[in-house]
Amino acid sequence: MNQQPEIDRLADLVAASKYMVALTGAGISTESGLPDFRSPGTGLWERVDPMEVLSAEALQFRPEVFYTQGLDLLGAFREVSPNPAHKALGRLEEAGILKAVITQNIDSLHQQAGSRKVIEVHGNLRDATCTQCFRKYPFAEIKSQVKRGIIPPKCSCGGIIRPDVVLFGDPMPPAFQEAVTEASKSDLMLVIGSSLQVVPAAYLPRLAGQLAIVNLEPTPYDAAAAVVIHGRAGEVMEALSAELEHRGVI
Ligand code: APR
Repeated sequence: MNQQPEIDRLADLVAASKYMVALTGAGISTESGLPDFRSPGTGLWERVDPMEVLSAEALQFRPEVFYTQGLDLLGAFREVSPNPAHKALGRLEEAGILKAVITQNIDSLHQQAGSRKVIEVHGNLRDATCTQCFRKYPFAEIKSQVKRGIIPPKCSCGGIIRPDVVLFGDPMPPAFQEAVTEASKSDLMLVIGSSLQVVPAAYLPRLAGQLAIVNLEPTPYDAAAAVVIHGRAGEVMEALSAELEHRGVI
């Protein structure tokens, strides 16, 4: 289906914006080979109940499940490369148009694509922390201890080391407050690849001046958006970059 009219409309909004932010979800990384959570048939949560194996409750009361099945699930977010959608956001930031990427993703692909202001509201898979003395560790420390049968993985102080991923049941990290500030300052928020079903992240679009959505499936915010493009993030963002380049905007 020719989506050029919507791409042109989106380019109008981007070119006219004074403070644009992006809000991304797992759907921006599926073209890099990572799974998302709720796509019918392929989403991770179609197969596993995160509350059972990858929640704050599981970490506290079922550490042997959390550090085996839960860690295997996190292993699905293996090292992959950024795709054209991530790279397009990096270019928009370089051109001074995009002021921040607010991401629900833990895959670090925005940073690898060159984005500098990346606000990770659901944490990351790079780091880990001792729940007792708060000493930081690389996530690899958890994997190496679990591999040696040390479950739960232990800090030198005797405390438990946990991933810096925000689990269901965790409080939101300080990054969420930064995301609220950025969303509130924005006159345009471009949502890419999110079902916008998980709060409080899914409240952020309410704070933006205007909304544009690029997503394969409909979202609860479609009716409130100035532009909605139901398409693949990579293709749409490449077409948007080409249109902005043609206009001399980037
Ligand atoms: N292009 C555009 N959209 C896509 C693509 C793609 N290539 N692939 C998938 N999508 C869309 C899907 O249609 C879906 O609506 O991306 C959306 C992804 O939604 P979810 O799987 O719910 O992921 P997300 O919105 O990031 O979930 C939010 O839920 O489980 C928690 O912490 C987890 O951060 C995650 C949060």
